[in-house]
Amino acid sequence: MLLTRSLLLALSASLAYAAGLKNGLTSAGIDAVFPGDSKYVTASTPFNLRFDFKPAAVTFPKTPQEVSEILKLSQELNMKAAARGGGHSYIANGLGGGDGVIILDMQNFDKITVDSSKGTAVIESGNRLGNIALTLSQAGRALPHGVCAYVGIGGHASYGGFGFTSRMWGLTLDTISTVNLVLANGTIARASAQENSDLFWGMRGSGGSFGITTSIEVKTFPSPASATIFEYEWTLDIPSTARGIDVFEKFAQTNLPPQIGGEINLGRGPSKGTVAFHVTGGWYGAEDGFNATIAPFLEGMPKGPKVTLTQGTYLNSVEYLAGEPLDTRTGPDGHDTFYAKSLMTPESAPMSLEARTAFASYLANEGFESDMEWFVQVELYGGKNSAINAVAPDENAFAHRTSTFTIQFYASSPGKQPPFPDHGFTFLDDLVSSITSNSPADWDYGAYANYIDDRLPDWQKRYYGTHYPRLQGLKDKYDPKDTFDFPTVVEE
Ligand SMILES: Cc1cc2nc3c(=O)[nH]c(=O)nc-3n(C[C@H](O)[C@H](O)[C@H](O)COP(=O)(O)OP(=O)(O)OC[C@H]3O[C@@H](n4cnc5c(N)ncnc54)[C@H](O)[C@@H]3O)c2cc1C
Ligand SMILES: *[C@@H]1O[C@H](CO)[C@@H](O)[C@H](O)[C@H]1NC(C)=O
Ligand SMILES: *[C@@H]1O[C@H](CO)[C@@H](O)[C@H](O)[C@H]1NC(C)=O
Repeated sequence: MLLTRSLLLALSASLAYAAGLKNGLTSAGIDAVFPGDSKYVTASTPFNLRFDFKPAAVTFPKTPQEVSEILKLSQELNMKAAARGGGHSYIANGLGGGDGVIILDMQNFDKITVDSSKGTAVIESGNRLGNIALTLSQAGRALPHGVCAYVGIGGHASYGGFGFTSRMWGLTLDTISTVNLVLANGTIARASAQENSDLFWGMRGSGGSFGITTSIEVKTFPSPASATIFEYEWTLDIPSTARGIDVFEKFAQTNLPPQIGGEINLGRGPSKGTVAFHVTGGWYGAEDGFNATIAPFLEGMPKGPKVTLTQGTYLNSVEYLAGEPLDTRTGPDGHDTFYAKSLMTPESAPMSLEARTAFASYLANEGFESDMEWFVQVELYGGKNSAINAVAPDENAFAHRTSTFTIQFYASSPGKQPPFPDHGFTFLDDLVSSITSNSPADWDYGAYANYIDDRLPDWQKRYYGTHYPRLQGLKDKYDPKDTFDFPTVVEE
């Protein structure tokens, strides 16, 4: 093998870095695993097995001071760093979204402190949603968040946080009053309306670009007295699927109470030309008020769906939706091999009949024939009385306060194992363009940064809209050396 001088220099430099990194972390007494260690493979395996990144080290800091030490060392060595919360990033951004990054796995930041008199809580950033729901519920409190117990609050609260209580309580990030964090240069800081208010704005919508959150202080809500999870299941043809989406959207525009949230789950039908059309959601109002609330939707839909209503306590509903134990310490996290995209639809310009029909046709035909394991979720963000859309558009960096739906498109490889096939990308890209290419050229749709997508060319516009320039200013101020760097990082 011929080694050029520059290659030799680069090699010895990276060896020196590796030695410097290991020495630096070891002498600071920080737990870490390195390439070649027996725990390295497990520590560097992402949730989405479509990716296989090789971090320079996976560290496990225990205190904000240790986070600070690691970041200072990263800057000294001119290396990149990234935080990992629950590790559920769709594109493994919790592993830095590339090779050679110093990872700060936040799992030791697992405390949750509830202040019952103020109705607030301090949640350290290594917690997962299931454990948060369990702990808050012991104090009779709750927070809006997604359904999967293993999702980490670290990423979830940095980029959004949607669940069926979000029409009533907002997104997870809307509940944050203070972010305790460490800046790229190792400075331990607080961001709130009073302190570093510009950073407070940016951490709520684009957190990973500016700092490493060690804990968030949040407003919590009293657990609802009861909850009903509803499931209505139809098998529909193409025109009825197209119509059903419209019926759901129009239902949301009636005087819908905030205590109802839900989504349409679309899946492969039993035969070509059909779609499994399921509507699932939660009702958090008085138990006997549900049937009257859902009635206008059912009136617009074909008769005779399969109905499942599951009533119980609020915590029962969280457990039921998760479909797994809420205490995530009882078992390991799962994996998948997948590609996902999202589309946030503007309330002012509902999906056209043409777009809905092309979409339904794609699901019923190409979707039926594809060997991919896929689903589409049409999540209700807006409609009348939605707390998500009641937040002022510039209150925080989350850029979408006028959307009706966030549509998530998700395809796993057959058997959910790697490799992810090339035709899986084409399948999902064409599914999304069945909607966009049949919509007006200036259709002002967005995308959801928690359904992060490595193949979205205009992601700056779709995730952040008019907020992007302001985020760029924050990047320049708080991370001028680009220590936090990943495929969808805000760039100066
Ligand atoms: C099975 C599954 C179900 C999901 N369900 C929902 C749902 O119902 N609703 C919903 O809204 N979303 C949902 N999501 C998406 C989820 O919200 C995002 O994937 C989220 O970003 C994951 O956070 P994490 O901490 O687990 O991920 P990680 O991979 O650890 O982190 C994601 C990103 O956030 C950054 N980050 C993590 N921790 C910190 C920190 N402490 N400080 C600064 N930056 C940090 C990481 O660097 C990375 O860029 C789901 C995802 C999966 C895989
Ligand atoms: C609500 O409707 C379901 C059928 O969809 C029925 O089984 C249930 O008894 C009704 N509940 C009330 C409180 O009327
Ligand atoms: C660290 O960065 C912050 C934000 O840019 C800055 O205010 C502070 O002076 C920096 N601290 C050091 C020690 O450089």
